[in-house]
Amino acid sequence: MTINDYRIDFPILNPQNNEKRIIYLDSACQSLRPRQVIEAMDRYYTQYPACSGRSNHQLAANVTRLVDDARQQMSKLLGASRVEEIIFTRNTTEGINLVANALDFNPGDIVLIGGKEHNSNLIPWQMLVKRRGIQLKILHSHADGSFDLSAFELALSEGVKLVSFGYTSNLDGVTLPVEQIIKLAHKKGALVLLDAAQAAPQRKINVRALDIDFLALSGHKILGPSGTGVLYGKYKLLDGMNPFMVGGDTVASSTYETCEFLPVPEKYEAGLQDYAGIIGLGAAARYLQSVGFDAIQKQEFLLNKIMTEGTNDIQGLHLIGPADPALRGGIFTFYVDGIDSHRIALMLDQMANICVRSGQHCVHSWFNAKGIKGSVRASTYFYNTQEEIELFVENLKKIRKVL
Ligand SMILES: Cc1ncc(COP(=O)(O)O)c(C=O)c1O
Repeated sequence: MTINDYRIDFPILNPQNNEKRIIYLDSACQSLRPRQVIEAMDRYYTQYPACSGRSNHQLAANVTRLVDDARQQMSKLLGASRVEEIIFTRNTTEGINLVANALDFNPGDIVLIGGKEHNSNLIPWQMLVKRRGIQLKILHSHADGSFDLSAFELALSEGVKLVSFGYTSNLDGVTLPVEQIIKLAHKKGALVLLDAAQAAPQRKINVRALDIDFLALSGHKILGPSGTGVLYGKYKLLDGMNPFMVGGDTVASSTYETCEFLPVPEKYEAGLQDYAGIIGLGAAARYLQSVGFDAIQKQEFLLNKIMTEGTNDIQGLHLIGPADPALRGGIFTFYVDGIDSHRIALMLDQMANICVRSGQHCVHSWFNAKGIKGSVRASTYFYNTQEEIELFVENLKKIRKVL
């Protein structure tokens, strides 16, 4: 299959009649969705718009079967040992909050995170500092954004309870050496939570082979519907924790005084779920596997190389992260001296319908520490073409000329 074969599946990439031609370079925020995902959701609303599990009629049976299938698909995608290890959430943020609130933290426990984490992997821990008296420690990267393994080993020697890192950074695209990180952490008795919001769209993750304890991802970054996600957790850990959001669908029975929780995963999926979203996520997992991660990485690298080389003569342009595009996946983040990043993004949009993200990308802590106001992030996926990237480079050069 070629890139063009895949592009046909994405409605927005195939404008009809006089519709605008959009160049979508914001996939790190949300990927586009293929029609297979949209149609799966549509079938839910038109053919079996019912509850899963709760009711016994034929419509509900269909939904239950499709939700089970989506869990199977996600389990297969991540290489989980048991399907029950897949908990449906709304997004990565919810997955991380679930772990932060369900694991048993005591005053003095150390949680170690990186120096360029998304707010979703920073604020939940800051709350635990206030509420439970944990200690939050920050491990900074090398100047080019790469992971500092020796500093990590040193930090572990202080007795860490949980290590929680962004597997791939949404800021600079750097992917961590998770195999080494997990081995070292486990040797010292620390649990490992990976924020895989940016890693899951671009690489094969095998949670069992890597021995990951918890992993959170967002469905909307892997071709799935908005507001869907997964928390993977080792069964033994999930079984031993208490859910933090409770109510309907989490219990087998209740009295006025107490209740009996359902087993994993039900005890973590409180209330009526986004069935259309979950079913759409199952379709997304299937689609992603059919594209394959080798093809995804190959295209992302090719496009990032064109962006990097094409822009290296733009005066005052500063790239965030390592110079080598092979180390930045589909992410190209930069700022230009003297030009407001939002202005660049707005002009790209107005001049050529190029959609990029500008600002601090929910990594305010890193920008504030560095004293950098903001940046522009162009993020690609396998459906972007060389021609689109060339237009991005060309328009960026035009902007530099006039501002
Ligand atoms: C690395 C990383 N972590 C966490 C998140 C939060 O994801 P969500 O908003 O889907 O919860 C994002 C979103 O961009 C991200 O890139």
